[in-house]
Amino acid sequence: MSRHTSDDFAHRLVRWQAHAGRNDLPWQNTRDPYPIWVAEIMLQQTRVATAIPYYQRFMARFPDVATLACAPEDEVLRLWSGLGYYSRARNLQHAAREIVTRHAGRFPHALAEIGRLPGIGRSTAAAIAGFAFGARAAILDGNVKRVLARHFLIEGFPGEPAVERQLWALAESLVPERGVETYIQGLMDLGATLCTARRPACGRCPVRATCGAYAANRVTELPAPRPRKRVPVRGTVMLVLRHGTDVLLERRPATGVWGGLWSLPELTDAADVPAAGGPEADLAATVKRAVAQRYGFDARCAEPLAIVRHTFTHFTLEMRPVLVDVGRIDRRAGEPGVRWLPLGEACAAALPAPVKRLLLRLGGGASGDQPSLLEEAVQDL
Ligand code: ADE
Repeated sequence: MSRHTSDDFAHRLVRWQAHAGRNDLPWQNTRDPYPIWVAEIMLQQTRVATAIPYYQRFMARFPDVATLACAPEDEVLRLWSGLGYYSRARNLQHAAREIVTRHAGRFPHALAEIGRLPGIGRSTAAAIAGFAFGARAAILDGNVKRVLARHFLIEGFPGEPAVERQLWALAESLVPERGVETYIQGLMDLGATLCTARRPACGRCPVRATCGAYAANRVTELPAPRPRKRVPVRGTVMLVLRHGTDVLLERRPATGVWGGLWSLPELTDAADVPAAGGPEADLAATVKRAVAQRYGFDARCAEPLAIVRHTFTHFTLEMRPVLVDVGRIDRRAGEPGVRWLPLGEACAAALPAPVKRLLLRLGGGASGDQPSLLEEAVQDL
């Protein structure tokens, strides 16, 4: 690629961003690294439109690094609840604490220091340093990989290390001398609004004239998709223990899936749990026995509900919820990390999104046209 093409690529993007890009997002038009950082972390796996209300609530509650650093983790997770990928929220707070203890409360300026904070990878560090301090560093998130793979005809799945190295080298070579902030915003905007994965709007693209994929009529072929691998299915039985209008929540261990969030108790002893698809009476009997053993509660009835599936990157979780009405409970005997809460309050806790939806639906939160959990055989929540 000639120097002319790369300069031209950046300049056309910069010009296009200034008049057609997004310039009024809530985290823009500031040089304060804190809001820029919070937004970049939220936007790692979340679209702009989804992120905005979460971002606004988060910033209202944690307006600066110091407030975030000293907040209870539970509250941070609660305001993140629904966005998924909770390690982002935990890392955000760990990083805030490091900024307070290791950087005297001031967000570091050096790219290398920013990249050492928990949860901040190479591309996110470059975006923060670029937007906040005008640093000349390349970004390469999923959208940017798509733009570059198409424009420069890069073959292979961008998650492959060799392809990723090639893309980083290319991304570095394209960063302009001036106007870095507008350039990186332009790349993000192009990837999010025109050069989309499906139905790209090439007719309005500012770099179409030099786009290799457009010229070769291969726009929707590139970048190459992830090589297909069947993800395993993990099963779990989720207990909706109900006492009057209260339900029991347990805090999950700090590490692993949904670490630190509140959730429903699970039966993980696979040996004891009858296989999915077997008689419901077997599952109900197992659940009653387990509830008596684990909590000493008298389970009056156990009613299996519709199966719920949730897809993670590496596996699908198949949740079999069982509604269990329990008789007398001893609240004083409650262990730390276990809470009885009225259903409405439980729904507002820091819950994983599929568990929250399950409880909302159980509490009559469903709109008229949604099937009830008792009606549908399998739900993809
Ligand atoms: N995606 C990642 N960072 C972004 C930003 N700052 N603005 C819009 N979309 C983004």
